[in-house]
Amino acid sequence: MNYIGSKLKLSSFIFDEVKNTIKMDLKDCVFCDLFSGTSIVARTFKPYIKQVISNDIEFYSFVLAKNYIGNNFDKNRADLLIKELNQVILKTSLKGFIYDNYSEFANRQYFTNENATKIDTARITIEKWLKNSYINNQEYYFLLTSLLESADKLANTASVYGAFLKKIKKSALKDLVIEKADFLPTNQNNLVFNKNANELIKTIKGDILYLDPPYNSREYGANYHLLNTIAKYDEFIPKGKTGLRDYIRSNWCKKAKVYDELEELIKNANFKYIFLSYNDEGLLSFDDIKNIFSKYGEYSYISKDYQRFKADSNRVQKQNNTIEYLHILSR
Ligand SMILES: C[S@@+](CC[C@H](N)C(=O)[O-])C[C@H]1O[C@@H](n2cnc3c(N)ncnc32)[C@H](O)[C@@H]1O
Repeated sequence: MNYIGSKLKLSSFIFDEVKNTIKMDLKDCVFCDLFSGTSIVARTFKPYIKQVISNDIEFYSFVLAKNYIGNNFDKNRADLLIKELNQVILKTSLKGFIYDNYSEFANRQYFTNENATKIDTARITIEKWLKNSYINNQEYYFLLTSLLESADKLANTASVYGAFLKKIKKSALKDLVIEKADFLPTNQNNLVFNKNANELIKTIKGDILYLDPPYNSREYGANYHLLNTIAKYDEFIPKGKTGLRDYIRSNWCKKAKVYDELEELIKNANFKYIFLSYNDEGLLSFDDIKNIFSKYGEYSYISKDYQRFKADSNRVQKQNNTIEYLHILSR
């Protein structure tokens, strides 16, 4: 998934630096990804770790982590369910909330009419299968993740769901086919939460805490509202031209609150090592972070030049050079 602040391209750098820093075997460690987003960092560590704790305040992100981090069931069953769901969306057309509010028909062309109908059909079917016990909870999150990831690829947007494009772009014209959201089955007792990080931190403990909070004022709940709407599939009155729903406002996105939020988090963290990803364009300065970390243990950092691509509203891809910092606290 193309996600603001995704660490997809940085995950091996983060993995190597964590491994080189800690004076423990990864296989004996409890690793927590407290702002997990797409789950890519937790997924990178999962095969090498004793236990993974994953958390994000956004519901769609929780769904992804329930699948990628929490799930442990037979791959053949997963294949069968995907096959059956694809057969349903080929043969049946159920129009529902997405068609009514987020399609060409609704004058909010986030999806073509055909794909909006397929999303509704799949979403209604997944809920029905859970209700009549054809699938269990693990299978439910697997199917929801598969739908979210596959639908996201066909969204008629520049990159996020803050707005839709006036004309349907080529990639959004493809017919929805639900692809399997592969997870790694393990015998770990992994934990997945959907909480405010500063609340959850008071209730967990472990060895490695990885922090990747929002670093600017762009709220995830607003930019990915449609993923929450597909995941929750609840009824509400969409607001205005873009069909926004009520969304969570994070203190990490507020200049006036973010310093205290980080300090409180670090103060309450019961972990041997803390790693914080933050870049040089964030609301907190390098010195802000250094000051906070230095109060609570031994501080160091690693930096990496990073070329990222940013989509602007005209769909022009601009290259952007940033410095990614990995701030480290050991105690
Ligand atoms: C930079 S992204 C994380 C990206 C992730 N590491 C990845 O590679 O996909 C920040 C995440 O923090 C989440 N978030 C924002 N405020 C939060 C809070 N107060 N508690 C927990 N999660 C929060 C957002 O929903 C978002 O997914």
